[in-house]
Amino acid sequence: MLRSIGLALLILSLSTGVVPAQASPPEQLRAEAEETARLLAKLLQAGRLAIEQNQALIDDIHKGEKGFTPEVFERQMFDIFRTRTGIDLSATSGGKQTSVAIPPLARTLLPALIDASTAVVLDAQVVINQRGIGYKNFIPATFGSQAAARFSKQSHVLLKQTALHPRNLKNEPDEYEASVLQWLSGRPNSETYVSELTEAGKTLRVMMPIYYRQECLACHGGPKGEWDISGYPKEGAQEGDLAGAISVKIPLRAE
Ligand code: HEC
Repeated sequence: MLRSIGLALLILSLSTGVVPAQASPPEQLRAEAEETARLLAKLLQAGRLAIEQNQALIDDIHKGEKGFTPEVFERQMFDIFRTRTGIDLSATSGGKQTSVAIPPLARTLLPALIDASTAVVLDAQVVINQRGIGYKNFIPATFGSQAAARFSKQSHVLLKQTALHPRNLKNEPDEYEASVLQWLSGRPNSETYVSELTEAGKTLRVMMPIYYRQECLACHGGPKGEWDISGYPKEGAQEGDLAGAISVKIPLRAE
């Protein structure tokens, strides 16, 4: 039994061994892009959660300086990301090794998303530190839309938050995203993600679903159509319903 496994591994390594050194085999390219897409989606999620856990502070009507600086935000985002992936991003910025391997493609893209995310929090400082105003429209979703757009503008990878009926029209799904969201909305809430090669294998698309939790329903819950604090009509959603997804689109060959 053990012997046959050893043999299978040997055959596998021999067959990959004949591929020229520069060209990665397609499966390897795909696996690397897929892992990179998952890590980008998880980092955007971690940023959203870091905003969420400071929402009461951000919305404090009596307090001016909140101390929620880009540095504080970054540390919290790193903590959440490390808990969820085992990767310590503060170690990577110092050029140190992390215990979990980061795919080469992600080594430039993750720092680019960190920069985009902290830049959004830096730009929001005036808003965050405003006294006398409670709700400031600086929430996980607005942070996520802005950080994803900023990152996508500077990179060959597209990152966005999307939903079937988005509040922000910039989050409108493309045809592919709409079909996956439709598919996801008919299934039970799960942590799985969808990954597919499109455009004859030239592009990898990965979508990570986001589900409504109790805390989301103040704005997205019922009664449907009633205005929420952010000035949008509520969706009438229930806990566990599909809220949308983080979508990543990665070209597999550098053109
Ligand atoms: C304070 C009200 C509020 C709360 C609470 C809230 N949202 Fe939203 N949500 C919004 C607003 C406003 C937008 C549009 C953001 C923008 O302008 O990009 C939005 C957008 C989104 C989007 C992007 C798609 C779209 O409609 O543009 C997703 C996904 C989403 N919210 C999920 C959630 C989830 C999940 C939670 C709970 C963890 C949550 N929201 C909590 C107000 C809220």
